Amino acid sequence: MLQQFNEKNNDLKININGELIHRDQAGISPFDSLVQGGDGVWEGLRVYNGSIFKLDEHLERLRRSAKALAFTQIPSRDELVEEIKKTLAANDMNDGVHIRITLSRGTKITSGMDPRLNQAGPTLIVLAEHKPPVYRDAEGSSGLNLCTSSIRRFPPDCMDPNIHHNNLIQSIMAKVEANANGADDALMLDRRGFLAEANATHVFIVSPYPAHSGNNTPVVQTPTTAACPEGITRQTIIDLCDENDIPCIERDLSMTHVYNADECFTTGTMGELAWVGKIDGRVIGDGAMGAMTKRLSELFVELTKREGVRVV
Ligand SMILES: Cc1ncc(COP(=O)(O)O)c(C=O)c1O
Repeated sequence: MLQQFNEKNNDLKININGELIHRDQAGISPFDSLVQGGDGVWEGLRVYNGSIFKLDEHLERLRRSAKALAFTQIPSRDELVEEIKKTLAANDMNDGVHIRITLSRGTKITSGMDPRLNQAGPTLIVLAEHKPPVYRDAEGSSGLNLCTSSIRRFPPDCMDPNIHHNNLIQSIMAKVEANANGADDALMLDRRGFLAEANATHVFIVSPYPAHSGNNTPVVQTPTTAACPEGITRQTIIDLCDENDIPCIERDLSMTHVYNADECFTTGTMGELAWVGKIDGRVIGDGAMGAMTKRLSELFVELTKREGVRVV
């Protein structure tokens, strides 16, 4: 398992609608929309040395997701930042911290699906945990071992992947498959059979493009966001490539492209960049962390030291 219980999180104080409550006592109503129907939106944020990396991008994605779900009240950016600051201060946290911020449609007057039953305003949960990057992996280790899931990612006409909502069952089913296969995580395809992303992260490959062109320049490649969320780490990697003259394209990738890549890595706030060593039993590249993955990981870590919104 990639994650373990961290003793430092024994006495966390969790912020629920502005109230800070010990993790053993914290709870929400059985009438809350999250319990009733997973009717909420969320963001994962990471604190680096007192600052949150890409805070405004995350809060903006939260707002856009809540608006798409037609929430009638959405806390302002400043209100959200205030609650985040309060939570970090209460837990005396400033580095190696992951924050999960969840906004549900709130409690209902009676059990049911209809948003008109929600008359109390939204529920805001700020959960901050000591959690260094989950997948951060030493060069020289074997990298992530992935398998391809039989569960497909929805296109926007089934459920728009750009709503970052709390219905994670699709991802959990894919993770169940990964566990059954002894893999670390699962790759998920779109309805056409092209790569969408992994169950909780985006996926990049590095290989010459077009293949067989005789041009051996490594090109960083990632699927479009037709069937995955507009990832903030994903966009950061695309921007870093742009700023450093590294060729990078978004395109449809079949599993043949992926199996034959020289390098493969995943991206996400929880684990930054993590290199992939094996997929469906095939060794990727030469089975070691590739030069481009290493370079982009270093550029990413440098950026997290330079950028961010101070919250401690
Ligand atoms: C399904 C899914 N894919 C990928 C990601 C990674 O996105 P980000 O880089 O914005 O953390 C997330 C993170 O929340 C996610 O939920």
